Amino acid sequence: QLVVNTLAKDSVIPDTRKLVIPGAKGQATTAEDQNAVISALASLASRDIVSYEQHDTFTYFLTAEGAQIARDGSHEALVWAAVPAKGSEEVITIKQLQDQLGQTAKIGQGKAFKNGWVGKEGDKLFKLVSTIVDTTQEELNEVVKSGTLKGGEKAIAELRKRKLLEQKKSLWYSVKKGSAFTTDLRKPETDLTAEMLATGSWKNSNFKQYNFDADGTPTNGGALHPLMKVREEVKGIFFEMGFAEMPTDAFVESCFWNFDALYVPQQHPARETQDTFYVSSPAKALSPPKDYIDRVSAYHIHGSPDGASRGYQAPFSLDESHRLLLRTHTTAVSSRMLYALAQKSKKEGFKPAKLFSIDRVFRNEAVDATHLAEFHQVEGVVADRGLTLGDLIGFMQTFFAKMGLPNLRFKPAYNPYTEPSLEIFCWHPGLGKWVEIGNSGMFRPEMLEPMGFPPDVRVHGWGLGLERPTMIRYGITNIRSLVGHKVSIEGVEKSPAVRF
Ligand code: PHE
Repeated sequence: QLVVNTLAKDSVIPDTRKLVIPGAKGQATTAEDQNAVISALASLASRDIVSYEQHDTFTYFLTAEGAQIARDGSHEALVWAAVPAKGSEEVITIKQLQDQLGQTAKIGQGKAFKNGWVGKEGDKLFKLVSTIVDTTQEELNEVVKSGTLKGGEKAIAELRKRKLLEQKKSLWYSVKKGSAFTTDLRKPETDLTAEMLATGSWKNSNFKQYNFDADGTPTNGGALHPLMKVREEVKGIFFEMGFAEMPTDAFVESCFWNFDALYVPQQHPARETQDTFYVSSPAKALSPPKDYIDRVSAYHIHGSPDGASRGYQAPFSLDESHRLLLRTHTTAVSSRMLYALAQKSKKEGFKPAKLFSIDRVFRNEAVDATHLAEFHQVEGVVADRGLTLGDLIGFMQTFFAKMGLPNLRFKPAYNPYTEPSLEIFCWHPGLGKWVEIGNSGMFRPEMLEPMGFPPDVRVHGWGLGLERPTMIRYGITNIRSLVGHKVSIEGVEKSPAVRF
């Protein structure tokens, strides 16, 4: 208010140190006053009520020693004062002077001689002049009064060298009226209210300008979990390559589709309870088509009718087939879909198919930093006439290259449902080694023939986990910071979308 009132009266304030603060305080000369001034100026300037310029000046203040000299006189003046006049009866020796003035005698003597104030006869001291001008004391007192010295830079430098003065930068301001100058400093209104309209007070109100440059408040949108971001990206790759998505909504499967249809022997160790979560209620799955389960059973026990396969030569239990479990791999979905495709081809003729799925599977495994009892699998299957192992390898090279993994190696492996089977390794530049990322193979005739595919139709497929590429992509080392109650919500929101 003081600033705008002064401006209303004088138009400009050339020096804010000259502002007269009402009451006993007087002019705004201290640094604290100028601090108060600048905070007022900043807020007035933000509303274009004033504009101002900042200036700086150096002011000086006395050190403890400087203050003492300003009060008592300089060392040399004290020496002069303690020494008797020439020809006086009093006598003072250098030694006596030192006893009397201590340190001051030592410091002041030289300068007193040099100034021609004091002389010496033997070891006796006497005054050479009857009056002196103690410039040091005078200068220091001038600094106390005005904060600076008319004598200028050189005199100041000399006093600073003698450690009698210290320098302080002080700021002050000159102020002009701004484009929206007013002395009415009521906070501008930010809303036009019904009351203002009713009373008519809006006519005299001062409204705040819109700030079209302001950033909007961040919106609180949802965010995909990192695993889902990677899933979206992988889905995109499949769609790009012409794949259709398989329905993966049934987490509970029968042993038949999860194992038997895939030609996994009923005696296979992976079926045992240590790997598989069996479901006890309901106790039995719905039956698959009778003719199909009969053919599957025959292939398990005896092999193919033409004798090309001898089967497992082991018993096949229908009760076992009807047990329920949490699916241990998404290949359970692939077996249902391939069976459906074979049925369709019987009616309409065979059409090639490319199918994929990305969803959850369950295994009763020891949980550690990189394993959980449930995880996601990515799976692709391709059915066509005359496919070869070369097609499978070529397909995987294209697919993984799109995922940013152009460097693949394959190692022969064993799956009950594929022959040949290949483990997939990729070069991990960060770890500097080959990392196993997936498993693949050509589905066996023992699986495809009972489904009813024409004999020249081959199906190949591959599967990989979703968690591992996600952990590599986001630099996560512990699976528990990706899945489960320890996941940071902030991390979920902040993690960038994936681009393989
Ligand atoms: N089901 C296999 C697994 O769980 C992956 C796979 C899918 C292998 C399709 C071959 C063909 O590892």
